[in-house]
Amino acid sequence: MATKLLLSAFACVLLVFLRIQTHAAEGKSEGRKIYLTYCSGCHGESGKGDGPAAKSLPVKPANHTDVAVMNQLSDKFLFDIISKGGSAVGKSAAMPAWGSQLKEKQIREVVAYLRTLSSSGGHSGK
Ligand code: HEC
Repeated sequence: MATKLLLSAFACVLLVFLRIQTHAAEGKSEGRKIYLTYCSGCHGESGKGDGPAAKSLPVKPANHTDVAVMNQLSDKFLFDIISKGGSAVGKSAAMPAWGSQLKEKQIREVVAYLRTLSSSGGHSGK
């Protein structure tokens, strides 16, 4: 009897714990989801600019894990190049414009995600 009670108590704790875990991951993962859907083909899953399509591009996609580079880029710049494309900010048109596909909020989420790639040297652990 006592073991049964203990077991169900344990299962409860486990459930609550798992819930908290997925919840915490959700907020962060929205930007990650967008990134993996639209950006990783060129920029690579980890943001190093080594996606499968990178080789066929005339310019190397930016490496988002380079802290020195990313620290010089303002959120506004990141927002602009993602929304309007590379040519709008004097960079290569090989970086497409996403303004018509992504909502402003989604672009902000992706910018926040890009920040996590460089702040920890590309190992966000998530
Ligand atoms: C078709 C390939 C391709 C896709 C898809 C793509 N990019 Fe890019 N991106 C590039 C290239 C190439 C550059 C480099 C342009 C240059 O240096 O002139 C770039 C540059 C950038 C930069 C500028 C960074 C810097 O260091 O100057 C940001 C930010 C960026 N991309 C974010 C994104 C995001 C976010 C997505 C997804 C919504 C995305 N890119 C999708 C090819 C791509």
